Amino acid sequence: MEWKLTREPLASLAADAIIVFHTEDRESTQGCAHEVNQALEYRISSLISEGEIRGSLGEVTILHNWGKIPSKRVLVTGLGKEDKTDLRRLKNAVAEAARKAQAVGIKQLGIDCPFYMIERYNSVDVIQAIVEGVELGSYQHHSYKSDIKKKEMEVVWLSLDELPQSVFEAGIERGQVFARATNLARFLAHEPGNYLTPDKLAEQAKQIAEKRGLSIDIFTKDRLAEHGMNGLLAVSRGSANPPRMIILSYYGAPDSKEVLGLVGKGVTFDSGGLQIKPGAKMDTMKGDMAGAAAVLGAMDAIGKLKPHCNVIAIIPACENLTGSDAYRPGDVLQTYSGKTVEVHHTDAEGRIVLADAISYAKRLGATKLVDVATLTGAVVVALGYETAGLMTNDDEWGHEVKTAARIAGERVWELPMYDEYEAYVKSEIADLKNDAGSPAGAIQGGMFLKQFAEDTPLVHLDIAGTASSGKNNGIHPKGATGSSVRTLIQLAMRFG
Ligand code: BES
Ligand code: ZN
Ligand code: ZN
Repeated sequence: MEWKLTREPLASLAADAIIVFHTEDRESTQGCAHEVNQALEYRISSLISEGEIRGSLGEVTILHNWGKIPSKRVLVTGLGKEDKTDLRRLKNAVAEAARKAQAVGIKQLGIDCPFYMIERYNSVDVIQAIVEGVELGSYQHHSYKSDIKKKEMEVVWLSLDELPQSVFEAGIERGQVFARATNLARFLAHEPGNYLTPDKLAEQAKQIAEKRGLSIDIFTKDRLAEHGMNGLLAVSRGSANPPRMIILSYYGAPDSKEVLGLVGKGVTFDSGGLQIKPGAKMDTMKGDMAGAAAVLGAMDAIGKLKPHCNVIAIIPACENLTGSDAYRPGDVLQTYSGKTVEVHHTDAEGRIVLADAISYAKRLGATKLVDVATLTGAVVVALGYETAGLMTNDDEWGHEVKTAARIAGERVWELPMYDEYEAYVKSEIADLKNDAGSPAGAIQGGMFLKQFAEDTPLVHLDIAGTASSGKNNGIHPKGATGSSVRTLIQLAMRFG
């Protein structure tokens, strides 16, 4: 998709379609929508007065041009109430319109920049939001159908009459990097388990490293054994596909000792192990590497944007299956940290593989940690599909990650990690157990990981609810969402 700047008003642009905006507060069209309305002999006005166009958020009305303007279609797009409109809502509204436009075969699209957004926000941020809206909303998941004919948008014109070219270019560049990193994560999380095995995930990481000039190290079984990474080794034993520990690094601030460690759960398929999951919806567990996908997407963007900071990414990748050598409930594992873990539930495998990765990130010099994981069904019970669970052992670091998420337009909500919860992860026969039954399941996961971060600040993001969307919704086409990618990029840009 190519982005172009036009100084022409949209009413005179010759594209397949143009997007203009309307809000709930106004009885008549404003700005660019008004010019188009005039050219269309007030047809938009009459739909507004008949109540067919209300301007509510997510509403998209497709009109023809009746031969009055050069563009063939007009998409009147609702932004909701003006005092509630923010960059997140703008992104979602643009995404709905772009997806509809693409579905009807539009290849060349023109977009207006809502005047009151430019007055309220930094112009680069507004342009970034529009670009993200189009590129995220029109994303189409990879298909294995043999007769697929993709309808793809080719050119998008952004109509800006006053802003300098440099502002346009900065907004386009950032929007594209953020959106394409998210779409890369979506692609990875959507791939079937038989295609995206741990070694294939490692190959994908290698491609990103080569493209962006990042260092990469990939541990195969022998090196995992040499290092005593018995958590990752144990979980992977039920599968014929061997595990990998994937390590990417970017040193953009050699003068600084601060290192951001990003850890992503890379379980390429989670059957639950011997305590097997029910059959229904088990297919969705191909996405149990969405945390790894988020970290890889973010590293792709970091490699491109080259912020002044140091970042290492660690991805424990494996499958959790039921083969004859599978780990058992009751087993005790000695993790890389030296801490022993009693396996209470083979389906609580994520925290076991993350434990080794967190300890290794510390060993490599990470001074602040964030892990991203589809860790618990319990977080979905607590927060649904809209919000990721955030847990931390350090309020200041937690605040920083929340700030990055807010700027990125992603939702996180903190769950507590009070000392009293520590009892939930204590075992009678080992240092820790990986599960303690039902209460506060998401917090149990966080408390377990906290034991491996020790005194290094850790934020744990449980994205089990946000990693995938059950329907087309704003910037999220149905399926893998790329949750947390944009938060991690923002975090890296602010780090150092
Ligand atoms: N991968 C799952 C968590 C999950 C659930 C991700 C729903 C996405 C959607 C994880 O490995 C798991 O199975 N967790 C168990 C933990 C329990 C056994 C303590 C769970 O949540 O039931
Ligand atoms: Zn599991
Ligand atoms: Zn899992």
